[in-house]
Amino acid sequence: MIKKCLFPAAGYGTRFLPATKAVPKEMLPILNKPLLQYGVEEALSSGITNMAVVTGRGKRAIEDHFDNAFELESQLNGTSKDHYLKEIKEIIKKSTFTYVRQKEMLGLGHAILTGEPLIGEEPFAVILADDLCDCAENGVISQMIEVYDKYQCSIIAIQEVPMSQTSKYGIITGDLIENSDNTYLVTDMVEKPDEKMAPSNMAIIGRYILTPEIFKILKDIKPHKNGEIQITDALKIQAKQSKVIAYKFKGNRFDCGSVRGYVEAINYFAKKLNVDV
Ligand code: UTP
Repeated sequence: MIKKCLFPAAGYGTRFLPATKAVPKEMLPILNKPLLQYGVEEALSSGITNMAVVTGRGKRAIEDHFDNAFELESQLNGTSKDHYLKEIKEIIKKSTFTYVRQKEMLGLGHAILTGEPLIGEEPFAVILADDLCDCAENGVISQMIEVYDKYQCSIIAIQEVPMSQTSKYGIITGDLIENSDNTYLVTDMVEKPDEKMAPSNMAIIGRYILTPEIFKILKDIKPHKNGEIQITDALKIQAKQSKVIAYKFKGNRFDCGSVRGYVEAINYFAKKLNVDV
């Protein structure tokens, strides 16, 4: 059973500067809700209540957002504006939040390893809140938990992208699992290949279910030239040592770490929720 979700949220968000100079990227709003809250809601809807957040310097707004705000609450209590806080208060009531700080931003793999003391020896979900997903029925993590229950190994969410965009993603190759049209046994992975070098157009997106063996593998991974420890390098080893499954999820995804994806997400949710713009 998956009880914990890790939210790596320590990155600098350079593509969103200057907005992210003092405001965490994960707290940028899509309409009136911060990206990270969408992620927490996705985890809650899959039955996970333990939210483990990897933060860093300048990210304190995250902790404040998921905590009571007595002064504000007592000001609004009993007024017509009371309902504005209802949703977030429910989330705070249902969830437990734990935090750890990543002292040096050495990449996603390093951020996940930093989360080890909050996770321990159990399988866990990972949500990158800047990859915002919206699904008609079950959320992406719920869909992936179903796959995990069947195969009991690390699961990565994938999406087909245009070949011209492979250089932005980790790209997998794999064998389609018999009697399925959406699960692949991963045979290889390449981090951000050029269109010409890409073995496929199946891109890894910001949702994972990882088994705890990943921590041991991450400890031995050497950093890349840019100093970052990549989670794809660790998953590649895990795929060779045991198995890793890639799952083509059902739903829409927006890369809210880029300005273009962020604007697309705002337009999508404004239309979906019938907001007059
Ligand atoms: P990104 O690759 O989007 O990096 O990280 P970034 O630093 O946030 O953004 P840019 O590229 O500079 O604009 C993917 C996820 O991993 C987290 C980020 O917070 C984001 O959720 N991350 C990345 C960490 O927690 N620590 C890191 O060292 C790097």
